[in-house]
Amino acid sequence: NPEKTLDTFELTKAAAGFYHQELFKHPEARQYLQNRGITQETIEKYQIGFAPNNWDFIFKSLCADSRQNPDKVSKLLDIGLIKENESGRYYDMFRNRVIIPIRDKKGNVIAFGGRVLDNSKPKYINSKESEIYKKGYELFNLDYVRKLPKEELNCIIITEGYMDVIALDQYGVHNAVASLGTATTPMQLSLLFKQTDKIVFCYDGDDAGRHAAWRAFGLTLSAVRDDKVLSFCFLPKEHDPDSLVRAQGAAGFRKYLENSLFFKDYLMSELSHRYDLGSDEGQIKAVDEFCSLVKRITDAPIMLQSLIVAMAKLVGWEERRIEICLQNKQ
Ligand code: GTP
Ligand code: MN
Ligand code: MN
Ligand code: MN
Ligand code: MN
Repeated sequence: NPEKTLDTFELTKAAAGFYHQELFKHPEARQYLQNRGITQETIEKYQIGFAPNNWDFIFKSLCADSRQNPDKVSKLLDIGLIKENESGRYYDMFRNRVIIPIRDKKGNVIAFGGRVLDNSKPKYINSKESEIYKKGYELFNLDYVRKLPKEELNCIIITEGYMDVIALDQYGVHNAVASLGTATTPMQLSLLFKQTDKIVFCYDGDDAGRHAAWRAFGLTLSAVRDDKVLSFCFLPKEHDPDSLVRAQGAAGFRKYLENSLFFKDYLMSELSHRYDLGSDEGQIKAVDEFCSLVKRITDAPIMLQSLIVAMAKLVGWEERRIEICLQNKQ
């Protein structure tokens, strides 16, 4: 129902506006953003806001007339901006957090992310999924990225967090998006491949980021195409894209990008780290895992062939043996 959806977007836009205005009344929140190096210009571009430490700020701002407007209340409940307690009272979901509006590819606000100002937990809360927000189909910043001139779309970078995207953009790397609290899905990849021929995963350099990259790798397999490129960028352990671009600038960040591992090289490097390829047993396990993974590549015959060649070389087997193993998996 398009009319209903339009209403909801008016509501989310109004909410983003209230949070944004509120930021200017809270020096502690502005100070937090300033400490992160976020400029006023960036605050405006992303409509960054603040939810005060108050149980009904957004509820009162949007529903002063709630008795006459149960429809509005039910929408706010649906999109998770408010919740209802046991005694039937409504309260705000986001309190005492910096607010980042999350937009769809057309620029409509579909969800919110909220970050604490200190080290308390949970560090982030994000809107729940709703009729207007399906995490696996959305990418933070896609609305801006798809409007970039062709020259800037030679690749699109995927990061773990929207704060990474915001920092990269401010420092001059405009072609980044973030998946939203879930692993990147094949659907998201195909959305991005409509805008670019190359996707670079750039997750945090820590162990969590490295594991996320491997998980992402597994999920990209069905999206592999011979006319597209997937690669994986690895940052030093202590950095994420946000901290790296602040420390080393866009040029420093781009050096890491240039050293990204292509899909195939990343797979070979992971397999050689995971298994002892000096032993028969290790080789068999590595080939077994290789086959379990690459059998999911169904639409990239040239890539598949080139992976088989690389794998044969890695373990020192004949290509034919790898092919037989692969056939047995299928
Ligand atoms: P900053 O400390 O603000 O720079 O956060 P970050 O974006 O670097 O987050 P981090 O590397 O710790 O985590 C990566 C991503 O995981 C974040 O961008 C969030 O999407 C998600 N995440 C981290 N902490 C939480 C949390 O407490 N709750 C939820 N729901 N998601 C989280
Ligand atoms: Mn403003
Ligand atoms: Mn991390
Ligand atoms: Mn991080
Ligand atoms: Mn960070």
